Amino acid sequence: MGHERYLTHLPQQVEEETIDDYILSHSDDEGALLTALTRDANVNLLRPRMLSGHLQGRILKMFCRMMRPHRVLEIGTYTGYATLCLAEGLDEDALVHTIEINDEMEDFIRKYLEQSPYQDKIRLHIGNALDIIPQLGETFDLVFIDADKRLYSSYYDLVFPWVRPGGLILADNTLWDGKVIDEKIPQSDRQTLGILAFNDKIKQDNRVEKVILPLRDGLTMIWKKTNKI
Ligand SMILES: C[S@@+](CC[C@H](N)C(=O)[O-])C[C@H]1O[C@@H](n2cnc3c(N)ncnc32)[C@H](O)[C@@H]1O
Repeated sequence: MGHERYLTHLPQQVEEETIDDYILSHSDDEGALLTALTRDANVNLLRPRMLSGHLQGRILKMFCRMMRPHRVLEIGTYTGYATLCLAEGLDEDALVHTIEINDEMEDFIRKYLEQSPYQDKIRLHIGNALDIIPQLGETFDLVFIDADKRLYSSYYDLVFPWVRPGGLILADNTLWDGKVIDEKIPQSDRQTLGILAFNDKIKQDNRVEKVILPLRDGLTMIWKKTNKI
């Protein structure tokens, strides 16, 4: 993950790698299970870069520690890396629901969930989030959107009524490798167009407060206003 940007103002690749190493060595360890999962993904999966990784994983856990959410939803499980990090930060009676469309990932995900002390806090759903979200019947305190970039706006619209006022939606990859500031995006690049449409939609949505963190590939924090604000 050395070429990803944790701090965007550092100009030199070599400096970024040094500061990345420093950040990780002065943050909590991810733990042996997540290290093993990451190694397994790097050896056996096609797109291992999709998993959240050490720094973002610790940040997701910290969000849970700070917010103490009762119900969490993750849209896009992939390996279960972020799921395990979210679960690690939860209180005793809290749960994280996670949805993955690719049924070929199920064995990989379950292999690691079953080794985790937090497995009882995790509910894995295999299927399309667009079908599953309305069936969950839960009100969420924290939602992590991290699936198909073309569908970010659809996930947002669908999940919004299920987020409690005062709840938080996190959306990953909202800077999309810097492509969001490219001047000409071809119509064929549906993922970048999906992210651009989502970012514009969030900016215009007065029901929420929002800020893009320049963390990794961009992480947008979207806070659903309460009727007191
Ligand atoms: C970036 S990865 C998720 C990484 C994971 N959240 C993490 O941080 O470790 C995106 C995942 O979303 C899944 N996905 C794509 N479209 C989906 C949909 N409509 N419903 C559920 N999962 C979907 C993909 O199969 C892929 O595994």
